[in-house]
Amino acid sequence: MKNITVIGTGYVGLVSGAGISDFGHQVSCVDIDESKIASLKKGEIPIYEQGLESLVKRNVDANRLTFSSDVSNAIKDADVVFIAVGTPQDDEGNADISAVLKVAETIGSSLNGYKVICTKSTVPIGTGRKVIEAINKTSGPSAQFDYVSNPEFLREGAAVRDFTHPDRVVIGADSQKAFDFMKDVYHPLYVNETPVLHTNIETAEMIKYACNAFLALKISYINEIANFCEEVGADVFNVAQGMGLDGRISPKFLHPGPGYGGSCFPKDTNALASQAEAAGVPLQTIRGAIDANGIQQNRMVQKLRRLMEGSFENKIIAVLGLSFKPQTDDIRESPAIPMIRSLLEEKASVKAFDPVSNDNMKSIFPNVEFLQDVNSAVADADAAVIMTDWNEFRGMDISRITSLMKTPIILDTRNILNTDELDSSGVIYDNVGRKKTNA
Ligand code: UDX
Repeated sequence: MKNITVIGTGYVGLVSGAGISDFGHQVSCVDIDESKIASLKKGEIPIYEQGLESLVKRNVDANRLTFSSDVSNAIKDADVVFIAVGTPQDDEGNADISAVLKVAETIGSSLNGYKVICTKSTVPIGTGRKVIEAINKTSGPSAQFDYVSNPEFLREGAAVRDFTHPDRVVIGADSQKAFDFMKDVYHPLYVNETPVLHTNIETAEMIKYACNAFLALKISYINEIANFCEEVGADVFNVAQGMGLDGRISPKFLHPGPGYGGSCFPKDTNALASQAEAAGVPLQTIRGAIDANGIQQNRMVQKLRRLMEGSFENKIIAVLGLSFKPQTDDIRESPAIPMIRSLLEEKASVKAFDPVSNDNMKSIFPNVEFLQDVNSAVADADAAVIMTDWNEFRGMDISRITSLMKTPIILDTRNILNTDELDSSGVIYDNVGRKKTNA
């Protein structure tokens, strides 16, 4: 059993801290935001993430998980300190690591014996060395620590499972002692034969970006293939099936849609592309994926315009789904945002519904009318556009929906509706890469 301190109680910090406590370690999750810590102490979880509340409760009840805003003392008590603070995107598309370096300085001034200092936040390649420098700056010459890069691969909506059942654990450590400490932290996974990859620090940092950028690239690729399918009468659903059956490709991340969003792919692809350019090795494929993603988002607006034969002016449009993907209330970089913005710019009235993200979107678009269910959102609408693949939209009664609308026009940007059912219900529809009305 190790004493662990996790600094930063955002998405990554909270899931990792609770997950590590579930492995049997004594974990203190700390944050300088005192109100956040006060809420966590009351059992309130600031994010919507399946399974997180019960994971936190179970470990708090077992006295393995505590919360504190006393960062310095929590560091002193720890064998391993995880840095899990935010690295937002700056104006040039780079990740801003100032919060990470500030934490590193605090760690340096609180060192009181050997510790492993481990970064979980996604940080530009080379940040590890800067963190070591920042710790050294404040720690004094006798400080004893090793540095580790241990990137996370958590998907929102599935983060708890991803943490407790990962495909692999990546540990970038120059010292064997630090690697052995980390092996202890992840002991239950080790026993279950989860692959644990020991690399140097830069390699671990690179693996994280290379994975996210590759997945984003895969999505942009299938989106472009879908667009091409539309012009030649191919069905992207079957194309993806045919591709996915090739073991070298795999069927995952081959779902075309309105473009990827979220807190990771847009940010990480930009950051990786900028870093590579600065290093003199531009990543043409990733730049292509980023451009294709922007084009894909615009293409959805054009599709809707075509379905409505021209203009959105004075039309009522129902937007179904606001989060960047289902099982989360996160709207960061959601493709629904550029869609709503275009509709409002072109003087449409927007009625929106999302099972969990209405409130988040309200802060960006106060002029949108937010409804509590699909039926009220589509009532009297001139068209409906599905932006998120929530299960409840998959099961919609299409005849009922269109009977409520002024005109039966549906843009299904997630390909979740059955085209035969749309045909038999007399809907005028379009999607991404599949048969559309009159095609
Ligand atoms: C991602 C990575 O999957 C995760 O490993 C990393 O740690 C953080 O970034 P997340 O952003 O939570 O996770 O969502 P993910 O499920 O990967 O989806 C990202 C975006 O791609 C969503 O907008 C989703 O709708 C879109 N997507 C995904 C597609 O359009 N098609 C697909 O086939 C898969």
